[in-house]
Amino acid sequence: MATDNECHDPGDEAAALHQPSRRRFLQSAAAAATVGAAPNLRAQAQTPVAPPVQTPAPVPPRPVELNVNGRAYTLQLEPRVTLLDALREYAGLMGTKKGCDRGQCGACTVIANGRRINSCLTLAVMHEGETITTVEGLASNGALSPLQRAFIEHDAFQCGYCTPGQLCSATALLQEYRNGTASVVTADVRKRPAKLSDDEIRERMSGNLCRCGAYANIVAAIRAAHEGSGQDANAAGAHSHDNA
Ligand code: FES
Ligand code: FES
Repeated sequence: MATDNECHDPGDEAAALHQPSRRRFLQSAAAAATVGAAPNLRAQAQTPVAPPVQTPAPVPPRPVELNVNGRAYTLQLEPRVTLLDALREYAGLMGTKKGCDRGQCGACTVIANGRRINSCLTLAVMHEGETITTVEGLASNGALSPLQRAFIEHDAFQCGYCTPGQLCSATALLQEYRNGTASVVTADVRKRPAKLSDDEIRERMSGNLCRCGAYANIVAAIRAAHEGSGQDANAAGAHSHDNA
């Protein structure tokens, strides 16, 4: 620090006035930033406020007739109710499971007119007049289907949450094979393979996920039902096909 006794060179002070000090530089930069931001602040203040979203009035329920597992149901449903919710919440058939509710897991698979579908991705009103089979409809007169027995014998589940969807999907899969439907791993799509290989089963079941990872046993159970080892492959799915 300079003291009163120190000499000051007037030339040095003049030079200091003309050299940009660090403080002066920071003050200039802050002033420039404020000027630059001002238009943005004004623009933000002037952004128009979006009008409130108008929620459409709910469409009143109307009677929807569904044929599920051979029984006729007349349900009072809004048009936006999915088939999955109609089955679980309105018909009381809780066997069909809701996993992802967006078509990714297959837990909600049911059979509609012989085709397996994700019931979370379709509206109940779209299936009036169709024949729907859920896992509750796979057994016949209290007797499990051969495929259901194969799942038990091959320990093809752990928690069982995905199992209703797996069973419906596999039931329809065996019928698709009998109908000659090809998959993307079928070597020659012009003729039905002599039997379902494990690759065919895995590919055809690829829409059904199992968080417990019971895939190896699921494939084994389907293969057993298909080959009829202790099972009658032709009977597997016959009940659902009859319903369809
Ligand atoms: S709940 Fe339908 S696909 Fe997952
Ligand atoms: S057995 Fe648990 S998710 Fe498949």
